[in-house]
Amino acid sequence: MPAPAKMLILQRRLEHPATVAHLFAVLAEGERVAANVAAAQSRYCGDMDSRLAVFFRHQARQEKFHNRAFYWGARCLQVRGTLLRREIALFDTLEHALLQALTEGRLCESVLGLQVILEALGEAFLETVDRRMDQLDMGFKRLRHTIRCQEQAHQDFGKHYFYRSNDGCGDALDIAADRYLAIVEELLQVIAPKLQQLELDPEYYLRAVLRAVQQGAAQVNPAASSRL
Ligand SMILES: [Fe+2]
Ligand SMILES: [Fe+2]
Repeated sequence: MPAPAKMLILQRRLEHPATVAHLFAVLAEGERVAANVAAAQSRYCGDMDSRLAVFFRHQARQEKFHNRAFYWGARCLQVRGTLLRREIALFDTLEHALLQALTEGRLCESVLGLQVILEALGEAFLETVDRRMDQLDMGFKRLRHTIRCQEQAHQDFGKHYFYRSNDGCGDALDIAADRYLAIVEELLQVIAPKLQQLELDPEYYLRAVLRAVQQGAAQVNPAASSRL
């Protein structure tokens, strides 16, 4: 796909287009995992709960659209040979764990991993992308607004479901949360040099994810929040 003129202008305004392209590609990988897991959640719910199945099916479709938007952004910045091996391996590990949770009947855990943890990480990055693109007057406002509204709906729905439904599996969920948080932490370590090049602090994104998990833990079990 040739890069449109708008993207070429954008590329010239960026100080580090290759780094931005790399981070767009990382975001696209996160969207890929979100699309696959939401589709699996929808299949899992099936006839059991048609309202949930429909929501997850819509989410999967929207995540696919986000995935294409970020890949398109990365490719339009015309960066070739971007190496994402370690990032992809981490996303694959996360995806495998979330799909395994569904295979073993732990929908609540998959919601914790996707709609609470991964979505919190995505939202923190999207907020940064939005702010930086506004500062540089880089356009795509409607696209950015659409993606963020859809992500907000996924998070709200997931959190609501999670807080309502995770009765009786608090300790197991604490262990799962630690496992998913460790993957997020490692991912942030891997991309830390790229973030620092853009004067972004990896810790800021980790704190955003921890906050989302703590909010959940506090609502489910007030004592648990102090352990995180
Ligand atoms: Fe998304
Ligand atoms: Fe999402």
